[in-house]
Amino acid sequence: MSFDDVVELAKRRGFFWPSFMIYGGSSGFYDYGPLGTLLKDNIINIWKREYAKEGAIFLDTPVISPADVFRASGHLEKFSDIAVKCSKCGTPYKLESLLKSLGITEIVKTVDEAAAILEKYDVKCPKCGEKLRNPYDFNLMFRIGTNDLYLRPETAQGIFINFKNLYNYARNAMPIIVCQVGKGFRNEISPRQALIRMREFSQAEVEVFYLDGDDFPVPESHADLSLLRNTGELQKVKVSEAFKSGIIGNRVMAYFLNKTYDILLKLGFKQDRIRAREHDPGERAHYSSETWDFEYLMDGDWIEIVGVSDRGTYDLGRHQQFSGENFQIDGKTPKVIEPSYGVDRILLTVMDSSYYKRDNGYKVLRLDPHIAPVHLAVFPLQKKDDLDRIARGLFDRIRSVDPFVFYDDGGNIGRRYARQDEIGTPYCVTIDYQSKEDGTVTIRERDSTSQVRISMDELIERAKYFPDSFTELFKH
Ligand code: GLY
Repeated sequence: MSFDDVVELAKRRGFFWPSFMIYGGSSGFYDYGPLGTLLKDNIINIWKREYAKEGAIFLDTPVISPADVFRASGHLEKFSDIAVKCSKCGTPYKLESLLKSLGITEIVKTVDEAAAILEKYDVKCPKCGEKLRNPYDFNLMFRIGTNDLYLRPETAQGIFINFKNLYNYARNAMPIIVCQVGKGFRNEISPRQALIRMREFSQAEVEVFYLDGDDFPVPESHADLSLLRNTGELQKVKVSEAFKSGIIGNRVMAYFLNKTYDILLKLGFKQDRIRAREHDPGERAHYSSETWDFEYLMDGDWIEIVGVSDRGTYDLGRHQQFSGENFQIDGKTPKVIEPSYGVDRILLTVMDSSYYKRDNGYKVLRLDPHIAPVHLAVFPLQKKDDLDRIARGLFDRIRSVDPFVFYDDGGNIGRRYARQDEIGTPYCVTIDYQSKEDGTVTIRERDSTSQVRISMDELIERAKYFPDSFTELFKH
């Protein structure tokens, strides 16, 4: 199973690991290590640049909010999962995950329906075998102490309540695309699968405010996307065609589904392991009238990595009602389309999708060079005969133009290549005896393992324009 391999590699090589382990750990919390921190930044930066190209503006609001915000948003009342707790061993389960693990596909919307399903299938505790009965609604909001304060379950509300400031900032021009990246918190019943379901997680959210008539073009689609409708029908189509044929009813939704797909492909995901799945009406969040989840196929399971929801006028409408503020423009409340990216899930799944083993059993992360934490590694062929001094000098020169470079002179050259392959470093530079003669070095490409020889001066010039200047060296 690639998931287990990736989690093992992530821990051993410094991408991520469970938090608080010296005190026995606490489920649902993970630390990013040195390489994971860089990988996460690189993913976020690509997302930011892609939305900046759309004219987006950015925001950063508190993770703690007064209860008023979530009373208005509906989260205090409605943001819950159905849970069931074993009366014998005390293990809590999220009903949806429990049923899925038992191969029960029926959709459960209410506690009464849940009780009937548990009875019908005579569901037992996977840990101790006791009958599981008496499901209940479990609110996912984290309350802070005795104050009327909560940790935010999504970054989105910080954007909605600022609508007036943002509209003024944008000099009253619509549409407005607002992005925020930051932590969200949910008191998950049963955190699981490492970064997939955590209690503290990172989101990169986009709220697109528009009025009817605001012009978003029919998107230019480059690749077919697998669309799974809530009728069960599966189609491989371009998003533009899906819009034209009415599968995606809303032009703004179509535009941002296409944008999201482009970003995922840019991050290195492959078409055949990505699909967009339409939510069933009963499955949608309380604020949504249409949701498409982008999902990634991992070890036979489809994992949500981005949710794109039509929030309509729900949030601005509720905040107007509860705060008394007026968010209308020419008598109309703006509508919202929201692409919401799960940063941790994207990080884990992009590692999974780039993971493979060479024929010799060595592990490789074929990360796209744009997101690789280390760009280049520099090795002296031997730690003698002046090769190490030359390599150190070259390393310092590269570092002055691209700091994401790593020096390694430990063990034989094969082991050093293998160590870099495992962390996804796309190019390794070796200083050998010929380097002493003519000032050239070899560059080895991770995926093809082919090598080219160029001068050190050319290497420094190319390092200024990483990664395209290297990709073009290996175009065959
Ligand atoms: N803002 C959407 C979500 O948090 O799921």
